[in-house]
Amino acid sequence: MYARRRARFVESMEPESVAVLFGEEVMLRNRDTEHRFRQDSNVWYLTGLEEPQVVCLFVRPAEGDGELILFVEPRDATKECWTGPMVGLEGATAVYGADVAASIAELTPILAERMGNMATLYYRLGDHEARDRLVLDALRRVRGMARQNISAPTTIIDPTPILHEMRLIKDTDEIACLRRACALSADGHREAMRVAQVGMFEYEVEGFLEGYYRRGGARRNAFEPIVAAGPNATVLHYTKNDRRIAAGDLLLIDAGAEVDYYCGDITRTFPVGGRFSDEQRAIYQLVLDAQKAAIAVVRPGLPWDGVHQAALEVLVDGLIALGLLGGTREEALESGSYKAYYMHKTGHWLGLDVHDVGEYGKPGAWRELEPGMVLTVEPGLYIAPGSEADERYHGIGVRIEDNLLVTEDGGEVLTGGVPKEIDEIEAWVLGAPLS
Ligand code: GLY
Ligand code: MN
Ligand code: MN
Repeated sequence: MYARRRARFVESMEPESVAVLFGEEVMLRNRDTEHRFRQDSNVWYLTGLEEPQVVCLFVRPAEGDGELILFVEPRDATKECWTGPMVGLEGATAVYGADVAASIAELTPILAERMGNMATLYYRLGDHEARDRLVLDALRRVRGMARQNISAPTTIIDPTPILHEMRLIKDTDEIACLRRACALSADGHREAMRVAQVGMFEYEVEGFLEGYYRRGGARRNAFEPIVAAGPNATVLHYTKNDRRIAAGDLLLIDAGAEVDYYCGDITRTFPVGGRFSDEQRAIYQLVLDAQKAAIAVVRPGLPWDGVHQAALEVLVDGLIALGLLGGTREEALESGSYKAYYMHKTGHWLGLDVHDVGEYGKPGAWRELEPGMVLTVEPGLYIAPGSEADERYHGIGVRIEDNLLVTEDGGEVLTGGVPKEIDEIEAWVLGAPLS
């Protein structure tokens, strides 16, 4: 599958071009202690190689097949003694399918050599100063070869739009990974709803979920989990997760497993004690109705914003009916008054990155959904303690999030099996089996 993706990428490049893609580096956490390494998503997508300090150089000649030169750290017995086996130059060709392997120390001269007589350089400038310097240094070297009758590229193109467009439409291998990530994420959420108890700290539930995901084969969380009890649920990116859960609290959990580098991203909100209060029930039902309305419109051809609009209309009508918003639907949509309680959009692309790559449209026009896209649908309502709403609703935060694959004729929910109807949730939290 990696070779197939590489072939498609190279075919999309201009004839007589090279493309340079840097892998991720090890990030220090403090002093000499490192964060766990995660490969750059584009490099993972094209190679499946999980090692720091790698660079991919793709060469697309005027005619004939393209080539991948993979720069890696050469194997080093002392280093292997401390941190384990390395891919090395042998592995780069034998295991990872590179046409040529080279030491990362040779990057600048080989880059300069391969850029010679090429018209176009694909490289994303501006993300990383040291890499920019290295690539521009190689370019300068080629420009210095004019008297040897070697020309340098005159065009520099960002390669990520090609890769991001490819990544936006998931191939069958990616869909299989996403199904696994979503299923494990869903199983963890379902169990966490039972594990959470009044008197526990939010981080205990977080710890349970993380352990569940790791035991299920996840390498890591897809993002920092949000485990937000009571008023913490009204903070959109709450990650402190250190409150003791109180009687009467709703618990909002937004978490997902990362499996084979692909992310699940689910939110559920439930009463830890097993019963919604009247106010919690009203807000929850409204968000659920909005989420179902948004899921129902997912199909090929729908402009991206259609999902958000479907949720928004239900939310605005409901907020007006509850007396939380004044005026008409049209007035609320026009003025944006609903943003006091719903301040984010209804979803995002999902894949190797939780907020995955791919354009949402061009200025003035949202892009249309296509089979193979994967998105989240996640409306919410957040009534902060200091808000202007009737005090009865203060401190209620609800979000419901599922992940969908756009199919030929609709949308398939990949994150089923986690209760979200009110009756279902109350029964499940209190110990009844799922129907
Ligand atoms: N957890 C981040 C999001 O739902 O987008
Ligand atoms: Mn989420
Ligand atoms: Mn999300």
